[in-house]
Amino acid sequence: MDVVMGLLGCGTVGAGVVELTRRRAERIEEMTGTRPVIKKILVRDTTKPRGVRLHGEVLTDRPEDVLDDPTVGLVIETIGGIEPARSFILRAIAAGKHVVTANKDLMALHGEEILDAAESAHVEVFYEAAVGGAIPLIRPLKGCLTSNEITDLKGIINGTTNYIVSKMTETGADFEAVLAEAQALGYAESDPTSDVDGLDAARKLTILASIAFHTRVNLADVSVRGIRSITAADVAYAKELNCVIKLLAVGRERDGVLQLEVRPSLVPLAHPLAAVSDAFNALFVRGDAAGDLMFFGRGAGCMPTASAVVGDVIEVLQNMRMGISETVGATRLPRKVVATNQGPEGRYYIRLTAKDRPGVFAQVAGVFGDAGVSMESVLQRRLADQDAQIVVVTHSVRQAELTAAADRLALLEAVAAVDNVLPVEEMDADGPVMDDIMDDLAAPTASLS
Ligand code: NAP
Ligand code: HSE
Repeated sequence: MDVVMGLLGCGTVGAGVVELTRRRAERIEEMTGTRPVIKKILVRDTTKPRGVRLHGEVLTDRPEDVLDDPTVGLVIETIGGIEPARSFILRAIAAGKHVVTANKDLMALHGEEILDAAESAHVEVFYEAAVGGAIPLIRPLKGCLTSNEITDLKGIINGTTNYIVSKMTETGADFEAVLAEAQALGYAESDPTSDVDGLDAARKLTILASIAFHTRVNLADVSVRGIRSITAADVAYAKELNCVIKLLAVGRERDGVLQLEVRPSLVPLAHPLAAVSDAFNALFVRGDAAGDLMFFGRGAGCMPTASAVVGDVIEVLQNMRMGISETVGATRLPRKVVATNQGPEGRYYIRLTAKDRPGVFAQVAGVFGDAGVSMESVLQRRLADQDAQIVVVTHSVRQAELTAAADRLALLEAVAAVDNVLPVEEMDADGPVMDDIMDDLAAPTASLS
């Protein structure tokens, strides 16, 4: 038996979906009892080459050819953005069609509306590809790990920014130069705003946190800072401090209160996230029963993303065969309080430019002392024009104390600028994550008992 599908969009991801569906057709038939047929593919320009073999009549620029065709049982959305993707998906759901989407923007901003509509219409909406590309994250969090209280999510979930900071670390080049090169190579989009300003990671964190913390998180709940302020100097000082700079997405639940942030951080080289380079993604998850887990892989690209989309398609087809519906609406779950005082308590890196003359360092140290901020280490470098760069790493401090110190430093006559303030990642807030894993590996009998 054939199952008729409609594809919305045939760009990077859509073309991969066509290719992988074709490659796996036999296996899909074995697994689901149905042979997947992509009957129509909606695009804007039907004359454009697609980089994938298509039958002439498959492409259409008329949404109704997919959405109003009663033979189409499953719609795969790879258009991206909010509109018209949102309206198309809602229309498909209302017509009783299952939906698979790769659209993180839509699921982050309108996930509640879409999942509610799906629940009412008794259809599935799967969106594994929306976060982490090929890496299974959503299904493990929704399924395998639901017996856990998840307390921590921490990861690198934007490939573009990870590529940029990795190249800055490798080459010593500044942000703008690496961004331009990344754009020329097609790693970064011509409008890189959503990636470099942290919005893409924030949207993905919104989706992950809603699932992991059994609530519904809004994008506005996430404190967001991107990587534009990171300079070659920050990268070089991070190296001297045995760290690399990474854009981290962090979600925590403590005593029922959530803390959600996307921010660049200094990550110690011994931390497993420090080794995640180029466009790769990785996510740590801590559950009270499972302990620490780490997911790693390709977060984007044609076939990696198609891998997740077609995986979802197979799941829907299996459910259709069994006559079951798996849709889990995070929307029915209670809202949780989100901390407004964002910014972790912990160590911080502060880089400032000051006059290189007697007594200035004593003034700087005095400001830290008065604000109750203890200094762990200090680097000082002579700059041109009688200036010096001072880099301080603090001991663990509350963000309010740190902000007070930074504000007062900026007011000192001898301080030209507080150039950057970044958190320094601990191996883990409650004990080294990887040490737990390594301990388990070293003591196999303990884990069997
Ligand atoms: P893309 O290359 O820009 O492809 C978008 C496709 O949608 C194109 O075929 C385009 O048609 C079609 N389209 C756009 N607007 C349309 C409209 N109004 N009506 C009909 N068709 C329209 O995008 P992509 O990179 O494949 O991304 C697709 C989705 O996957 C996005 O939600 C993205 O966030 C998500 N995603 C992408 C990746 C990745 O690696 N690219 C990874 C994970 C998730 P034309 O070709 O005719 O212009
Ligand atoms: N812009 C995204 C990234 C693509 O750089 O990770 C996948 O969502």
